[in-house]
Amino acid sequence: MSQHPGGNAFDVNQRYSLVAEAAWVFQHPGGTVACRPLRVEEASMAAAIEATRFQPSTSVSSFESLISGHNGSCCGIFIDGTLVGCAAANITPVLDGYAAEAFFDNVSILAEHSGCGLGLVLTAYLLALCSRAPHQCSRATLEVRTGNVAAKRIYARLGFTCHGIRKRYYSHPTEDAEIHWLENMQSPEFNVVLSESVSHALELFHVKQLQRSEVDA
Ligand SMILES: CC(C)(COP(=O)(O)OP(=O)(O)OC[C@H]1O[C@@H](n2cnc3c(N)ncnc32)[C@H](O)[C@@H]1OP(=O)(O)O)[C@@H](O)C(=O)NCCC(=O)NCCS
Repeated sequence: MSQHPGGNAFDVNQRYSLVAEAAWVFQHPGGTVACRPLRVEEASMAAAIEATRFQPSTSVSSFESLISGHNGSCCGIFIDGTLVGCAAANITPVLDGYAAEAFFDNVSILAEHSGCGLGLVLTAYLLALCSRAPHQCSRATLEVRTGNVAAKRIYARLGFTCHGIRKRYYSHPTEDAEIHWLENMQSPEFNVVLSESVSHALELFHVKQLQRSEVDA
């Protein structure tokens, strides 16, 4: 067991094994954090969350296709049962001997819950979903605004590296896109990266909860 500041015990082994399970659930006195695949009836809530953080945002029907189709993966993060963030990827299945790849659509966390580690947990969870059956992706790719510091920190921690720039790719405001790739998602080392990233994210969540309870006191 590892003892976090403030006395909350997290079982490292238990957390590690969560990587292979359908849902991740982390009990914390400040709230239960859970990640799981979204259901079709939650598509409109996911679209509404994304629309608050990202333009142009994914339509409800696109979320429905990602959730119900075979070539997509879509998940949400919940605090005490309330959806506070969503993430999705399109999957290119194994083709002519080429390994399956995940193309990240987006990751969005409601502004009032940002900076608490939730974006990192959710992105790790989406990668875990993409890497295991039925998708078995070996690689993942995404585009990110050059100035999106928080997103780039998440991707770097999970092992993504920048392989190119699309000049003036984004509008409102105009900005370059960095093209990031992650390799070796089937390696044992990747599971360690996921586990360490989740540990770090839970530290961030814990520290944020402590700060909030100090402000409330
Ligand atoms: C980008 C986004 C998903 C990040 O989620 P989040 O829950 O706020 O981020 P986390 O709390 O998990 O923090 C992740 C890392 O970013 C850092 N970070 C968080 N907010 C930050 C900020 N405003 N400025 C700088 N760094 C920040 C954290 O310290 C952490 O870094 P570390 O791992 O080195 O400690 C979220 O801010 C969001 O929804 N933004 C709008 C949509 C978007 O840009 N999506 C990404 C598209 S590619």
